[in-house]
Amino acid sequence: MKYDTIILGAGAAGLFCAATAAQRNRRVAVLEHGPLPGRKILISGGGRCNFTNLNTSPDRFLSQNPHFAKSALALYTPHHFLELVHRYNIPWHEKTLGQLFCDHSAHAILDMLLAECSRSAPPVDLIYDAHSIRVEHDSSGFRIECAKGHFTSETLVIATGGLSIPTLGATSFGYDLARQFGLNIIPPRPVLVPLTLGGNETSWTGLSGVSTTVRASTPGCKTTFIEKALFTHRGLSGPAILQISSYWKPGESILLDFAPDLPKNKRLLDQLFTGRRDQPALQKALRDYLPTRLADHIANQFSDAISIKGQIKGWTNPALEARERSLRKWAFHPSGTEGFQKAEVTAGGIDTAALNSRTMEAKSVHGLFFIGEVVDVTGHLGGYNFQWAWASAVAAARSV
Ligand code: FDA
Repeated sequence: MKYDTIILGAGAAGLFCAATAAQRNRRVAVLEHGPLPGRKILISGGGRCNFTNLNTSPDRFLSQNPHFAKSALALYTPHHFLELVHRYNIPWHEKTLGQLFCDHSAHAILDMLLAECSRSAPPVDLIYDAHSIRVEHDSSGFRIECAKGHFTSETLVIATGGLSIPTLGATSFGYDLARQFGLNIIPPRPVLVPLTLGGNETSWTGLSGVSTTVRASTPGCKTTFIEKALFTHRGLSGPAILQISSYWKPGESILLDFAPDLPKNKRLLDQLFTGRRDQPALQKALRDYLPTRLADHIANQFSDAISIKGQIKGWTNPALEARERSLRKWAFHPSGTEGFQKAEVTAGGIDTAALNSRTMEAKSVHGLFFIGEVVDVTGHLGGYNFQWAWASAVAAARSV
């Protein structure tokens, strides 16, 4: 079969690009190796799909080239996507921090994308179970062979995503194809991912299920996140940890401020500076701020520190100040991450230096485009990754 444009991958970026290109009168097919479209959309946002973020701006994205995403994000904004959501009467709400979710189910977003794919004449051809895809290219365009037959097209869009959640169909296909065409890859790594604790720090896993608001940071980076951290049976999770995982490098520590809302000139342990100074008073002061199990664990850590390291001996003002400083910058030393099995997204990917930022076309291969998560553009948690999928899809769809 001959098409104007073939898109590989029926995820968020692939479906949206297909619908947009088809509405420009391009004859479009989507080849998906799995049995179904949009599987990540359906599980996203706890089943309610955090489909965009009103605070979208380029500084919410990581990339070797922080300027790369600007053009596509300006071309297609959260308000454009929201207009579409309104047209389909999908009820939505803003949760916190500009995050927009469906009121009911993520199915509404997938159904909308599929409806958009069938709105054009002819509609987009959606071809599932198209595994074992092989691509060849010559001056006449692209020739694609797969389990569903032979296809040719003038332009080819790679929307096969990253490596996160292999059980939902993630493969390294996009990176392998980029290498086939001589494009550089920024090493992929799991991000928006829980961190694991080892050694002495495994004692914290006893707090599994406890969560508290923290300010999370890393020593070398100015970006900080004030959100919930959650202790798990393997280490640390929750939005604050997922966010900082994107900035964390193996071997580094992460720093948690356990009293992020307390002004810098106020003290969490103030009661001890002005009143009784002993272990029960310490425990009480901590319990006033923190969940009981966490407060007691930290109180024990302090008493261990007194006996083991002798650093903050006794109840003198300097000893209390040292405790206060620890509480505002507690250093954890993650042993690793929970990997691609648990990562919401993959950072790294197709080097943006190889792509035109306005069209997503490879500079060295006319007609070859990369969109969505396969590209080295990774959003913060909170709807930014879908917004990148929509925006990069539209940028490519206008040029294919
Ligand atoms: P995506 O991974 O969606 O699609 C790629 C498609 O290509 C898949 O259908 C795959 O099967 C197919 N494919 C792969 N290899 C292939 C091959 N060899 N041949 C053919 N097809 C192939 N983001 C956000 O903004 N808000 C949210 O609420 C969430 N929530 C969330 C929850 C969970 C659990 C995860 C794992 C992720 C999120 N995300 C998110 C991230 C978001 O899902 C992700 O960034 C987008 O789905 C990326 O869209 P893409 O279309 O680029 O890839």
